[in-house]
Amino acid sequence: MTRRTDKPLLPRPRRSCLYVPGANARALEKAKSLPADAFILDLEDAVAPEAKADARQAIRKAAHNRAYGARDVVIRVNGLETEWGQDDLETAASAGVDGVLAPKVASGDDVCFIDQSLDDAGASPELGLWVMIETPLAILNINEIVAASTDTRLIGLVMGTNDLAKEFNAVPTPDRSAFMYSLSAALVAARAYGLAAIDGVYNDIRNEAGLSAECEQGRALGFDGKTLIHPSQIETANRIFSPGEAELSHAKAVIEAFALPENRGKGVISLNGQMVELLHLEQAERLVAMHDSIVQLEASSRSPA
Ligand code: COA
Ligand code: MG
Repeated sequence: MTRRTDKPLLPRPRRSCLYVPGANARALEKAKSLPADAFILDLEDAVAPEAKADARQAIRKAAHNRAYGARDVVIRVNGLETEWGQDDLETAASAGVDGVLAPKVASGDDVCFIDQSLDDAGASPELGLWVMIETPLAILNINEIVAASTDTRLIGLVMGTNDLAKEFNAVPTPDRSAFMYSLSAALVAARAYGLAAIDGVYNDIRNEAGLSAECEQGRALGFDGKTLIHPSQIETANRIFSPGEAELSHAKAVIEAFALPENRGKGVISLNGQMVELLHLEQAERLVAMHDSIVQLEASSRSPA
């Protein structure tokens, strides 16, 4: 049982989570100057079999001494059933990163096995475990996967929509109708256990309008952010997954209204003709906290290392 107990004071922004291929030295270096909230240093799909060992060493070197600053760094390992999985896990356990992302997880037992393997590899309890939701079995077993978070390091789900498309034999359409059930099922499951949830990638790198629409859709569903494949996608995801100005000023108005002496102790009030309840106050406080956290993260990357 290795669940993290220290809750951060501010929520962690995860608007933009950029995959960086471990075999691409230039990309590993360039990422250090990019404004993504998180980097997923990849040993799995983005790395060819013959390049796995070198990529492992390159990632270890790149992540040394918190070279990516305050941004989350997560290593995506190969599955433990592959010839690379164990070595990847040992690298992730000792590289001083924030998290490890495990692919093709299909059951609660899978989560427990990976968590135990991280313990065996000497990983700190602080190392967060993320799992890819990218197979039909993961969707069928989503309840037990998230329930395993109560006694493991599991802190978040990452949607693998390319793999889901392949497994479903689905036709990807702009409205993502083939994936709606899976996206919603994973989102609900994540929220039921207080886990983070990150949407899948958008493959059409040059299509800014398409990316925006998909980010808007992911945000509307409740996702914390989007996984990305190219630096040009970061700005869009950061913008769309940030609290907007109107949302923020409404949230502040809700907080101020509940703080007025005449509203003290009330469960419901009227604000600009709208009913506002204590649940809206909680939502408003969460939004403002996320805004503060984003400001703090962006300020940290501007200050000299
Ligand atoms: N992370 C960090 N830097 C990246 C990057 C990424 N994912 N993708 C591209 N870059 C860098 C390039 O190294 C290049 O850097 P430079 O300015 O120092 O030369 C710059 O951004 C521009 O890259 P560009 O020439 O437009 O792209 P490319 O043709 O080199 O690469 C891809 C295109 C799709 C191969 C590349 O973006 C990529 O590998 N993305 C990630 C894929 C992945 O991880 N897939 C698995 C998860 S789905
Ligand atoms: Mg995959």
